[in-house]
Amino acid sequence: MQAYVMTRYGDARAMELRDVPEPVAGEGEVLVRVRAAGLNPIDYKVRQGAMRMVQRLDLPRVAGSELAGEVEAVGAGVTRFAVGDRVFARVDKKKLGAYATYAVVDETIVGRMPQSLDFADAAGLPLAGLTALQALRDDLALTKGERVFISGGAGGVGTLAVQLAVWMGAEVATTASPRGEELVRSLGATTVINYREQKFKDVLSDYDAAFDLTGGQDLRDSFAILKRGATTVSIAGLPEPANARADFGAGPLVAAALRVAGAGIRRQARRHGVGYRFRFMHPSGEDLDLLAELVDKGTLKTVTDRVFPFERIAEAFAYLEQGHAKGKVVVQM
Ligand SMILES: NC(=O)c1ccc[n+]([C@@H]2O[C@H](COP(=O)([O-])OP(=O)(O)OC[C@H]3O[C@@H](n4cnc5c(N)ncnc54)[C@H](OP(=O)(O)O)[C@@H]3O)[C@@H](O)[C@H]2O)c1
Repeated sequence: MQAYVMTRYGDARAMELRDVPEPVAGEGEVLVRVRAAGLNPIDYKVRQGAMRMVQRLDLPRVAGSELAGEVEAVGAGVTRFAVGDRVFARVDKKKLGAYATYAVVDETIVGRMPQSLDFADAAGLPLAGLTALQALRDDLALTKGERVFISGGAGGVGTLAVQLAVWMGAEVATTASPRGEELVRSLGATTVINYREQKFKDVLSDYDAAFDLTGGQDLRDSFAILKRGATTVSIAGLPEPANARADFGAGPLVAAALRVAGAGIRRQARRHGVGYRFRFMHPSGEDLDLLAELVDKGTLKTVTDRVFPFERIAEAFAYLEQGHAKGKVVVQM
């Protein structure tokens, strides 16, 4: 079968289309005929080696973090899915494998595709949707009437995070360039700051929560706009020692290195009397079913920026890596 394979750590040339053997569903796994797959910054960050400290992959390996398709076969003991089911998934972080004609995924991390979506739109939902849902619900525990700041509302995660925060009853402020402003307003953001002209920390204050999607100075500035005792959750800053242990099973050395590297951020948070946490999203079939339900009810809209044919996946990555996508970039098999 055809697959997009990460051959080594490096620049875009470290990934290439190759013929590889088809995978076979093992116990508890489903074999999915992939119809479309989403692209995510994590895919090129992994390729660049940015995650090597916490996760080292055996290479070559079929790349790709999320997919939508049909169940082609099921392994022994599979109970939730049958051949022909339309499914979507954020695949196992250590196995990857979504950029291929077929992929095997443990049934516990597979969800039933929203009935109202085609494969391309569904393929862009799992990773960004689970990230936004888990950060807003599990880390920030947003409640009705709270005010949340989300940096970078127009991207893959941001477009879903804005809507999920609104669904949870929160009032949303976000940053976007003029190209993204109309989009984020249409998704429910009530305050939109053009980050190219204005610093959000000069405009916002006394927020109940912040969800940082852009990192760097934005992460530091988010502390200044929060009420005392509130929390910023970042997905773009530096992982915390607890993440290295819980999410990647990393040893004490890696945890110690992250503790040292993140000391400045934690100090700044403390100075403002606020909390800081890093979130690694977790694959989850149950949470995918919730996202699918929200889509089918019309509560959550997917935003797909561009769909490329699979053969042009290198071009799709070049586009994503420019960092200006509005919503998701997807390849179709
Ligand atoms: N920890 C986790 O589990 C996890 C999970 C998912 C994603 N992430 C990380 O989260 C980040 C966002 O992911 P994504 O998929 O949403 O990325 P993305 O789709 O590539 O984000 C691109 C969007 O971000 C906007 N943007 C860029 N810089 C901005 C800034 N300074 N202020 C406001 N908006 C800005 C761009 O708008 P303009 O071009 O209009 O400026 C563009 O619309 C990435 O770093 C990704 O690796 C982490």
